[in-house]
Amino acid sequence: MITMNRHFCNFIFLVKAVLGYLAYFSIFPTFISPFLHKARGVKINKIRDVYIAPTVLIDSLYPELLTIENNVYITRGVKILTHFNPTPPQQDIIGKESILGEVIIKSGAFIGISAIILPNVTVGVNALVAAGAVVTKNVPDYAIVAGNPACVVGDIRKKIWEK
Ligand SMILES: CC(C)(COP(=O)(O)OP(=O)(O)OC[C@H]1O[C@@H](n2cnc3c(N)ncnc32)[C@H](O)[C@@H]1OP(=O)(O)O)[C@@H](O)C(=O)NCCC(=O)NCCS
Repeated sequence: MITMNRHFCNFIFLVKAVLGYLAYFSIFPTFISPFLHKARGVKINKIRDVYIAPTVLIDSLYPELLTIENNVYITRGVKILTHFNPTPPQQDIIGKESILGEVIIKSGAFIGISAIILPNVTVGVNALVAAGAVVTKNVPDYAIVAGNPACVVGDIRKKIWEK
């Protein structure tokens, strides 16, 4: 039997989800998406200093657990999660209805296409998350991380970009 998650019956959660879907489809002007995400609770300082591409999914239920600092680029298809809701039988085992975790994306970081950032992760200053990476742990400042689970594969200050 499937028990209806209480979040789907809660008006505030519904508003946050609807704003999230509007942002998901917004293309231009580019400040619209950060504006909508800020309205639903994401901590963004200056909306014009952040780029969030269309088709970025930022946690539907707990967007307020995400901080995006200035000069961050979040590219298409990225998913940023701040919660995990176990099923009712799993809740009985785990003893919790929700597991929450803050995500912080520090200034100057770049999140590559279709990367997934899981709860309890800080992406460091000027770090680069590679396309398709699944980030389960903190990313050091200036690091390049790639893979599933993501590992450090370089440093943007040391990498030779032109060969
Ligand atoms: C699976 C999950 C619950 C594990 O969370 P956790 O207990 O905090 O996991 P840990 O941080 O202890 O990680 C344990 C190991 O598994 C790895 N790992 C965790 N989640 C992983 C994932 N999704 N993919 C690949 N590896 C993963 C970690 O890197 C770590 O590896 P290590 O032992 O080599 O260091 C979590 O990662 C997850 O995927 N949650 C689901 C979030 C979600 O889908 N929410 C729905 C929103 S609508």
